[in-house]
Amino acid sequence: MSYHKARKDYAKHSLDESDCPSSPHELLDQWLKEAHSDSEDANAMTLSTVGSSGQPTSRIVLLRELSSKGIKFYTNYQSQKGKEIAENAHVSLNFFWPWVERQVRIGGNAVKLSNKENDEYFSSRPRESQIGALASNQSQILKTRKLLEDKVVELEKQYAGLDIPRPEHWGGYLIVPTYFEFWQGRPSRLHDRIRYELSQGQCWSLQRLSP
Ligand SMILES: Cc1cc2nc3c(=O)[nH]c(=O)nc-3n(C[C@H](O)[C@H](O)[C@H](O)COP(=O)(O)O)c2cc1C
Repeated sequence: MSYHKARKDYAKHSLDESDCPSSPHELLDQWLKEAHSDSEDANAMTLSTVGSSGQPTSRIVLLRELSSKGIKFYTNYQSQKGKEIAENAHVSLNFFWPWVERQVRIGGNAVKLSNKENDEYFSSRPRESQIGALASNQSQILKTRKLLEDKVVELEKQYAGLDIPRPEHWGGYLIVPTYFEFWQGRPSRLHDRIRYELSQGQCWSLQRLSP
């Protein structure tokens, strides 16, 4: 594969200021719905965190809720991302939907969800996922896969006929955005980029950026 020769022209959509609602959350919702109609993975987003080492790390997580308050996802608070967020709540998110030639960048602050919200969401998950959350020390070294599988069997026995309790270290975050950038691929690399920023911490202001 010769990557330097790979060329693609983007021509499916455009993004004009007149298409942009005053709330970026609304535009994200619209783009998510459009992306979701062609792929079940549209809510997969790259989450980047930077802990006290200063080394950024990125991984995919699933958006579980979008509202005017922000974006929620769930994880293990003791994972690498959980530790880094505890050290530095500034995070960034990135969605890339090649099938609609769109990217969305978001910057914001991560806030832990309440125990009540975590319990409600945990109880709505399939039982296997609940057991998995209990069995896995996410991001810790695991000597063999068998150790994990044995743990699952042990927990299934332990909780047979009982509800699975949410581990205290499992829960969600609300990412409260401070900026959004919507990128729409256009022909000849003359892409549309619209950035929303919070002005005086209150209203969203909108600017077009050079591609
Ligand atoms: C499609 C996809 C969806 C994922 N969703 C989540 C998720 O919602 N929460 C989560 O903790 N990890 C999720 N993961 C796994 C993470 O990418 C990552 O491996 C894990 O969270 C450990 O990351 P960390 O060591 O940086 O904390 C997902 C991975 C993929 C590929």
